[in-house]
Order: sequence, then C-alpha cells, then structure tokens
Amino acid sequence: MNGPNLDRLGTREREIYGAESLGDVESRLRELAGDLGVDLVFFQSNSEGDLVDAIWDAADGCDGIVINPAAYTHYSIAVRDALSGAGLPTVEVHISNVHDREEFRSRSVVAPACTGGIWGLGTAGYDLALRALVQMLA
Ligand code: DQA
Repeated sequence: MNGPNLDRLGTREREIYGAESLGDVESRLRELAGDLGVDLVFFQSNSEGDLVDAIWDAADGCDGIVINPAAYTHYSIAVRDALSGAGLPTVEVHISNVHDREEFRSRSVVAPACTGGIWGLGTAGYDLALRALVQMLA
C-alpha cells in the first residue's frame, strides 16, 4: 500500500527516491510474491480516505500489510487508527532515510500501529518488508 505522491516515483526527486517507477516496484514485488507463494494486492492513492478504506479492505481479505504511508506517516491519525483497528501484521516502509532529513520526517504517528519498519534502503525496502511479513505469517 502506497500513499500520496508515490505514484510519481521515478520522476519525483530522483536523488532521494531513485529512478524506479512504482510500476517497476509492483512488477518486482509480484514476481517475489509468486516466488514466496503468496498473493499480492497492490494499491496506491493520493487520498487519505482511500488509504483508510484500503486498510479496512485488507482487514477483511488479507493476512498482512506492507505500507508506505508517505507524508501521511507524519500526521495521519486516521491511517494509524485504521492500522490499529485492522490489527494485521504490518510493516512500515520508507524509501528514504526519514531520520536523516527534515525533523518532521523523523516522527511517525503510524509506527505504534505497525509491527516493524524499514527505512533508508531504497525501494528494496518493499522486497525486504514482504519477505519479513511472509516469514512472520509462516
Ligand atoms: C517517504 C518519506 C516521507 O517523509 C515522504 O513524505 C514520502 C516518502 C519515503 O518513502 O521515504 O512521500 O515515505
């Protein structure tokens, strides 16, 4: 699950987020999911409410969540409440090192609702998060 502006990966601030598009990430994760023997639902939205709805949809039909809430990480109590309420194993991902940027990025209001997190490892963080989630669920 990906939050706002991540649909512009590959063109947006490439020096921070890299050259890969979200489509590239999705293709790679679909391949990885196949190798791991799991089904993947891929989702991106620029809207907070759509992310909240997608989290609740996951609660009804999925075993776990990998989420990069993007800017909502830093202030969305609605996303945090949805993750807490869904109660699924959840891995928070950030492509960049949020602790080595502006101070406001160091704070994640969603982290307490997540099982764990990965930041600063580029888009490889999504792969690692999926592997960790599958291992957790095994
Ligand atoms: C991000 C970090 C956030 O601070 C930022 O708002 C993003 C992307 C990351 O993946 O590094 O949009 O979540």
